[in-house]
Amino acid sequence: MAHYQAVGSIPPKRHTQHRRPGQGDAPGELYYEELMGEEGFSSDSSLLYHRNIPSTTVGAAVWELPDQSTTPNHPLTPRHLKLHELFDAETVGTTDVVTGRRLVLGNGDVRISYAVAGAPSPWYRNGIGDECVYVERGAARVETVFGAFDVAEGDYVIIPRATTHRWIPVVGGDEPLRAYCIEANSHIAPPKRYLSKYGQLLEHAPYCERDLRQPDGPLLAEQVGADPDEQTDVYIKHRGNGPGGVVGTLHTLPFHPLDVVGWDGCLYPYVFNVRDFEPITGRIHQPPPAHQVFEGWNFVICNFVPRKVDYHPLAIPVPYYHSNVDSDEIMFYVDGDYEARKGSGIGKGSVSVHPGGHAHGPQPGATEGSIGVEAFDELAVMVDTFRPLELGEGGIAVDDGLYAMSWSKGAGRAAPGGAHSEG
Ligand SMILES: [Fe+2]
Repeated sequence: MAHYQAVGSIPPKRHTQHRRPGQGDAPGELYYEELMGEEGFSSDSSLLYHRNIPSTTVGAAVWELPDQSTTPNHPLTPRHLKLHELFDAETVGTTDVVTGRRLVLGNGDVRISYAVAGAPSPWYRNGIGDECVYVERGAARVETVFGAFDVAEGDYVIIPRATTHRWIPVVGGDEPLRAYCIEANSHIAPPKRYLSKYGQLLEHAPYCERDLRQPDGPLLAEQVGADPDEQTDVYIKHRGNGPGGVVGTLHTLPFHPLDVVGWDGCLYPYVFNVRDFEPITGRIHQPPPAHQVFEGWNFVICNFVPRKVDYHPLAIPVPYYHSNVDSDEIMFYVDGDYEARKGSGIGKGSVSVHPGGHAHGPQPGATEGSIGVEAFDELAVMVDTFRPLELGEGGIAVDDGLYAMSWSKGAGRAAPGGAHSEG
């Protein structure tokens, strides 16, 4: 993120003395400057000023991750995964967004997990890549070393690699916190074509810097009611020889991780709400990249938001059948009306898996049924991967086993209106 931010207490010149307040004539103790940088310090970075030496640990242990194994989608099959069946109401109170994630799909570039959480997570950082956590329902406070966010339904929470943070769900609302977790093995950023050569979001982009929420930091231990000297465990996900090349370690710090008095730079977590995505529409059907919101290495994230649809007199609002030959398409249906998927079983909380090598499109009857429709009331988040995805244990557990046959004769017919556009 090229948008420079400066938060809290920083010295006027980088890499110079920055001290705590002194007593009398005695100078205060130095803060510890940390350069957190991407791509070998050749890309975005930030400078953080810690009260404690950021490399300090007093213990390390293995963190046994939830099952990260995957099973190939073979024979090649479109699938419908019913995420809302992954968690029972009784388990929500003891599930957290970090250790409670269940792996739905994954490959060597990205893992998609899901959690329905009512418990605070431990302190955590992902040393493998950036995370994009989409808040399907509910609300939470996300505390990070850069500051905190209050997040709620429709928020994409972008957490850079190796950012120490934790999730604290807001309990007692109408809905529990439902988190759709997209873990990259790379960085996650706005598409390059949305950006100027210096990184500003351009006029044709469907969102701009004003739509991004930055941390309201700095955030220190005492501000969250904690003792700055409190010994704290931090759960670290990192590369290793476990399933998917992912393993976990637990580091014990002799202090609380919220010890950053100030930071500045272009690398930090931020939040973008899907309702701030301005849809791009036209006289005839717009291509799927018009819906893109973020990208990582070998995958993209798109969203389909409520919008007016194609207005050519002979327009067909739902898409043509399409073969996205280089991609698996993973659509997460969040809200709206999916009448066009009648007969497929798709509904809120569903994930459809449309693998590369197999054409897909509307269910029978939906194309004719969409003619004359003026608007789609839908909300969906799509991840397209350029390498095949395999099924995680969570995906296997809630695969309806029927979806592949839903285009066949005899399948349910879609009613006009409320048609789903892509997927
Ligand atoms: Fe599609």
